[in-house]
Amino acid sequence: MTKLLNDENLIVCDFPLVEHNLSVIRNKNTSSEIFRNAARRLAYLLLYKAYSNLPMKEFDIETPICKTKSKMIDPEADIIIAPILRAGLAFADVASEILPAATIRHIGMYRDEKTLQPVWYYNKTPVELKNPKNTYVYVLDPMLATGNSSVETINLFLKKGMKEENLTFVNLLASPQGIERIRHHFKKIRIVTAHIDEAINEKGYIIPGLGDAGDRLFNTFN
Ligand code: URA
Repeated sequence: MTKLLNDENLIVCDFPLVEHNLSVIRNKNTSSEIFRNAARRLAYLLLYKAYSNLPMKEFDIETPICKTKSKMIDPEADIIIAPILRAGLAFADVASEILPAATIRHIGMYRDEKTLQPVWYYNKTPVELKNPKNTYVYVLDPMLATGNSSVETINLFLKKGMKEENLTFVNLLASPQGIERIRHHFKKIRIVTAHIDEAINEKGYIIPGLGDAGDRLFNTFN
């Protein structure tokens, strides 16, 4: 854990509104409706931090009073929001609502229950990035557990030539194993999380966690 705490690209958003909403979604008695609402509030809070690396440019503008200089997000930058289906959809609406210029690139992957390895079924990423050195990617997946699907997704984007430090992995709960797995391969990826939990169990679930994020979001328990 000490190693993790020295990681400047690991951003833990442990402020009161985050902790409060996290307790709501951890509670097994929380309904899917309340879970979705709380996840949406958490998305705003986490994305505010995640987007803090967006490239800015200064422009000349004129207010009703006078001319001035003012900053806006670099219009030349390509910004990609990549939700991993299906739990990543919990954050996707909010991510694009507050950053409408971004492209949304869905990633379809499920976890094989025996091997815990990711299995691809959908990939809407472009074959090539138009502007790899000025591309910013925000991968959305509420649960960073084994790190297998995260490493797979990160690799997919880095192979297209973008800069490692411009990729941000946004999640609600991270396991120490998941973080270490990412760090073993990628030193500069930004990880934004609400909390680092204790561990993962033999089935790959985060402890204490919140259970299966997809089932809890979409009310699919049977
Ligand atoms: N995915 C989930 O939905 N929950 C976990 O605890 C781990 C992975």
